[in-house]
Amino acid sequence: MNLTNENTLPNNDAGELSGFAALGIGGALLKATLAAGFTEPKPIQVQAIPPQLEGRDIFGIAQTGSGKTAAFALPILSKIIGLGTKRRPKTARALILAPTRELAVQIEDTIKLLAKGAHISTALVLGGVSRFSQVKKIAPGVDILIATPGRLTDLVREGDLILADTKWLVLDEGDRMLDMGFINDVKRIAKATAPDRQTALFSATMPDEIAELAKGLLKDPVRVEVSPQSTTAAEIVQSVVLARTRQKRQVLSKMLADEAMRTVIVFSRTKHGADRVTKDLVRDGFEAAVIHGNKSQNARQKALNDFRDGSVRILVATDIAARGIDVPGISHVVNFDLPDEAESYVHRIGRTGRNGRDGIAITLCDPSENAKLRQVERIIRMKLPVIADHLGSPDPQRDPREKTERHFEPANDREHHGGRRDGRRPGNGGGKKHIAGKPNGERGPKPQGERPAAAQPNSERKPGSFKRFKGNNKRRFGGKRPANRAA
Ligand SMILES: Nc1ncnc2c1ncn2[C@@H]1O[C@H](COP(=O)(O)OP(=O)(O)OP(=O)(O)O)[C@@H](O)[C@H]1O
Ligand SMILES: [Mg+2]
Repeated sequence: MNLTNENTLPNNDAGELSGFAALGIGGALLKATLAAGFTEPKPIQVQAIPPQLEGRDIFGIAQTGSGKTAAFALPILSKIIGLGTKRRPKTARALILAPTRELAVQIEDTIKLLAKGAHISTALVLGGVSRFSQVKKIAPGVDILIATPGRLTDLVREGDLILADTKWLVLDEGDRMLDMGFINDVKRIAKATAPDRQTALFSATMPDEIAELAKGLLKDPVRVEVSPQSTTAAEIVQSVVLARTRQKRQVLSKMLADEAMRTVIVFSRTKHGADRVTKDLVRDGFEAAVIHGNKSQNARQKALNDFRDGSVRILVATDIAARGIDVPGISHVVNFDLPDEAESYVHRIGRTGRNGRDGIAITLCDPSENAKLRQVERIIRMKLPVIADHLGSPDPQRDPREKTERHFEPANDREHHGGRRDGRRPGNGGGKKHIAGKPNGERGPKPQGERPAAAQPNSERKPGSFKRFKGNNKRRFGGKRPANRAA
């Protein structure tokens, strides 16, 4: 194919347009898309791009690693490229919201790649890093802004960003963006955008109660469902290893001694757990980096970058890295424990088996986690095979440090129950309750993301209004922002 001539579009044998050109992508954008190695559109792209080009709202569901990013990025880019360069200061033509900073960074990278040479301006607005450079970047106005909701809300409230000209809004990981940790910010943000905006929502999972909430944000959407929500990618071979909690660290180290586990992400339910697992792995001679919400943004991004470029083989992560992160070539995902929300399982294991590649997902399950496992099996509509059972094995030798460590480990990590609106702490069986029952539409513990619900100054933020905050943020937020709730 001749890529030097912009007018050369891919044709099939009958001389008709094929590939992305047949979906309505053309010119410099098509050229850059092909140069990025995107020659054949994925099913979600085939189904979701044309309606968005026609101006329709989209409710898009497709498995992890199936190409949802380009499915929302290409139509927006196509529309914006046709607009010329007039933008008002402090405005953004399109806004893409993501639940974590790392995902926002990755989305911007993908957009830059797909729009290479097309003179599209992008900017990132996210917490944990200097706001000054962000404000400066958006001052002249940008084409596409990628943001996490907390910092974005702050910039709008302080008058550094105006959303009135924003005609495209995307909620990537849409179910998470409408979950209780983000819903109020997202509603406010959506309300501040142009009344005739076009909205797209994409995810691999979509619990019914969240789909209901989505109706409030989408106008007569086209529903594109490549496979039923929570379907796991067929390429991922999934299994369970039965092990008591106190055996898990030893079981994990033995497992990782197998060199076939080339690039591994180990998910832990809690930040403390992630730190402990990492410490033990390093002690056992493994190279491992850790990423969780208590780390500085620099440390978080460095851990991910080191893992991405292959300088560390093992990344230990909380669910902060469960959604959207695309590191091609992760061979294995190990769930050190079951997540509280069954949907998180789908996203965690979806870090492997992406874009048609093979992947293996192994879940370590203590008998106390059986109810969570059943709930996972229910949403993925699959029974997971048990490939090893350590329950009858003697306990590992007690580590002399363990007594002290236990002393510091809370029964439930704060990361975890901190967002419960009813103030209840999930005690024994609590996990079972929120994952299985979700009583009264409650979705269990807060989602892990950029801004826990509990930390939001709700009394000062009425839905639908961005009150300009008079006074200093320090006082309002009760001093220095803890790292895990930076906007
Ligand atoms: N048409 C295409 N041709 C080749 N590669 C593609 C194409 N579309 C997407 N990819 C690649 O597939 C991988 C997964 O894409 P992407 O991250 O968009 O998946 P996703 O559906 O958003 O997954 P998740 O649900 O985990 O967020 C990326 O590495 C991306 O570059
Ligand atoms: Mg994605």
